[in-house]
Amino acid sequence: MTTESRLSMPIGDVMFTQRAIRRLKPDPIPENDLIDILEAAIRAPSGGNSQPWHFLVIRESELREQFAPLYREAWWEKRKAEGINGPEDIPPGKGWPRPAMHLADEIGQAPVIILVCATTKGSGPAASVIPATQNLLLAARALGIGTTLTTLHPQVEDRVHNLLGIPDSAQVVYCIPLGYPRGRFGPTQRKPLSEVSSWDGWGQPNE
Ligand SMILES: Cc1cc2nc3c(=O)[nH]c(=O)nc-3n(C[C@H](O)[C@H](O)[C@H](O)COP(=O)(O)O)c2cc1C
Repeated sequence: MTTESRLSMPIGDVMFTQRAIRRLKPDPIPENDLIDILEAAIRAPSGGNSQPWHFLVIRESELREQFAPLYREAWWEKRKAEGINGPEDIPPGKGWPRPAMHLADEIGQAPVIILVCATTKGSGPAASVIPATQNLLLAARALGIGTTLTTLHPQVEDRVHNLLGIPDSAQVVYCIPLGYPRGRFGPTQRKPLSEVSSWDGWGQPNE
C-alpha cells in the first residue's frame, strides 16, 4: 500500500475533526505511520518550492525527558508575557489555557515529539513550513493520531539546539507532540464564516 492509499479518510472528515489533542496515550506510534505523516507533510507548497523544512522526530524517551522541562519553561515564559505567572492565574473551566498547561507538564510522555524546523533563519522560511505543518496535522488525524501545534520560546532556543544538535543556521518553528488520543477528535469551535469573510469588498456580506 502507498502513503496515499493509507491516508484514505475523506478530507472533509479529516478537516472537520482535526483539533488539538493534548491528552495522549503513551503507546508507541508505528514508524510507518510516522513516515506516512512526514511524506504527506513534504507534499506541501513552499515559497519558490524552496522546501526549507526539516522534521526532527524525537522518539527516544531519554531525549523526551530532557526536552520536556525546556518545553515547560518556554510555555510559562510565553504566559508571563500575558500576565500569567502561575497556575493560580489560570481560571478553571473551558478554553485552552488549562489543557495547554497540563500539556506543558506532560509533553515528555507523548510517544513522539516532532520539531518542525526551517533550515534557515527568518520569517520567509518560517512561513514556508506552515503548509507542511498543516499537512502533518491532517495526515496524523487521518491515521487516528492526535497532535497539538505548539511553539517554543527564544529563552530555551540555545538549549534546545544543543540538546538535539540543531545547527545555528536553522530555527525551530513548531513543536508537535503526537500520540493516540485519550480524548476525542473534533468537532472544533470556530467563529461563523459570515463573521470572518467578506465578498467583493472588506465588510461586505455574501448576499
Ligand atoms: C501558532 C500556534 C501556537 C500554538 N501554541 C500552543 C501552545 O503553546 N500550547 C498548546 O497547548 N496549544 C497551542 N496551540 C494550539 C491552539 O491553542 C489550538 O489550535 C486552538 O486553541 C484551537 O483548538 P482546537 O483546534 O482544538 O479547536 C497553538 C496553535 C497555533 C496555531
